[in-house]
Amino acid sequence: MNSEVVKIRGLNKWYGRGKARNHVLKGVSLDIRKGEIVSINGTSGSGKTTLLNIIGGLDRVFEGKVEVDGRDLLALSDRKLSHLRNETMGFVFQAFNLLPHITCVENVMVPAYFSSRGMSKAHQRAEALLEMVGLSDKTNEHPTELSGGQRQRVSIARALFNRPSIILCDEPTGSLDQGTGRQILSLFHTLNEDDGITIILVTHDNSVSDRCSRVIRIEDGVIKSDKTQELRRFDPGEVESHPDLT
Ligand SMILES: Nc1ncnc2c1ncn2[C@@H]1O[C@H](COP(=O)(O)OP(=O)(O)OP(=O)(O)O)[C@@H](O)[C@H]1O
Ligand SMILES: [Mg+2]
Repeated sequence: MNSEVVKIRGLNKWYGRGKARNHVLKGVSLDIRKGEIVSINGTSGSGKTTLLNIIGGLDRVFEGKVEVDGRDLLALSDRKLSHLRNETMGFVFQAFNLLPHITCVENVMVPAYFSSRGMSKAHQRAEALLEMVGLSDKTNEHPTELSGGQRQRVSIARALFNRPSIILCDEPTGSLDQGTGRQILSLFHTLNEDDGITIILVTHDNSVSDRCSRVIRIEDGVIKSDKTQELRRFDPGEVESHPDLT
């Protein structure tokens, strides 16, 4: 059986054209296996978000081969690609902000509007997910009434709605304090341990990378290093007990 959930060969990406043409991914090849927690690091502008967008099927203007869950992204029809995205991937991107005018539970249920799932079941699942991320008391509040870390947890609940096998995160702890960042990371560890979810996250924060099973460093569109390390989960005492997150 093929355990690679992401397989990239000779990926090149340019933005712009003519004189303004900018080569931002330069021959990237990479395999990510099921159950890995991969951190992608690199300085600002090195191509991390571009790479994540391509893996997530959000950008199909590239050269090379990218397979996710055994499917060649360039060969899929738009309909098959959105199906793959909805069923297989969960996104925690800053660009995928929560909708401010609906409640948290409705935000978590958003993926249900794109599938044939019954709405009352969807509501129950959204509530269960909010409970899992420690926000059962916030289901009927609006995202604008929440803190940054709480909003991030709503985004994670929404990303998990369709039981993805891969979660893609762009700076999931970027705007959070260290304690809240740890809670999010510890939640990822639990999802990874319980469900074997593969997690790919972009971060600038070394303390986040330290808690991943693999660290890939990208510089100016090229993979400079790729290290597998033992996954260090948090001890219970290391994650601040949070009244929300028990
Ligand atoms: N939509 C776009 N159009 C044109 N150029 C872009 C676009 N998005 C990114 N770029 C350029 O591509 C390069 C890589 O950008 P990318 O967003 O992937 O970097 P990054 O590693 O995620 O940086 P950061 O850490 O600041 O988020 C940069 O030079 C950026 O200016
Ligand atoms: Mg970025």
